[in-house]
Amino acid sequence: MMNAQTVRATLEKDPREVASMFDGVARRYDITNTVLSFGQDRAWRKATRRALRLQPGEVVLDLAAGTGVSTVELAKSGATVVAADFSQGMLQAGRWRKVPMVAGDALHLPFADSVFDAVTISFGLRNVADIDAALAELRRVTKPGGRLVVCEFSAPVVPVLRTGYMEYLMKALPAVARSVSSNPDAYVYLAESIRAWPDQGELAVKIANAGWSGVQWRNLTGGIVALHRATC
Ligand SMILES: C[S@@+](CC[C@H](N)C(=O)[O-])C[C@H]1O[C@@H](n2cnc3c(N)ncnc32)[C@H](O)[C@@H]1O
Repeated sequence: MMNAQTVRATLEKDPREVASMFDGVARRYDITNTVLSFGQDRAWRKATRRALRLQPGEVVLDLAAGTGVSTVELAKSGATVVAADFSQGMLQAGRWRKVPMVAGDALHLPFADSVFDAVTISFGLRNVADIDAALAELRRVTKPGGRLVVCEFSAPVVPVLRTGYMEYLMKALPAVARSVSSNPDAYVYLAESIRAWPDQGELAVKIANAGWSGVQWRNLTGGIVALHRATC
């Protein structure tokens, strides 16, 4: 049997390994993120909420919501935001949050067609085994005219920032994670998966190929994170 505390997913992104790895980081997930991002995670979540232009009364899916830390920020808009994730450990760690939580796989969402006014995924798409299928599944559950926002690590646009950031990812981040996280090895996977991830333009093409219209992106923190927006 796999020990959740020691599992680190590989870039193959086997769904059982990914879920198990997140089960292992769940207990200290929120605080680890804030420490490793120097508090920037809060600004990135706010920017995601603004980009979605949510209205009170709308129904929104926050996919790969984990502990619901991204969901509560979105719920400040007055919309009803449903958190979905396939890691029972992450959902359990966020049970205290007052948001609806559903266990579900991004590749087979447990929702009918065209039910959400908007859908979003923050720092989750990179972990999904089949990105194209997940983008198509997000589109299936979105109403015609509904909005998508993907918040994900991306490629820093300034060369000097890119060099410093890569050094941080590969050297400092795993070391800091050892003192904060409940599963430091998972942060080696984090660094590797960020390096292997498509840049802004490549991700925009993937989103458009999944059938989304009007794809645009905006860089946050010099492109360390990018917000991609599109319409169903
Ligand atoms: C880095 S966390 C992001 C959590 C939260 N959205 C945030 O902004 O902090 C990534 C989440 O993606 C989830 N995940 C990865 N692959 C998934 C899949 N196929 N279906 C559902 N959730 C998935 C993991 O379980 C994990 O909770």
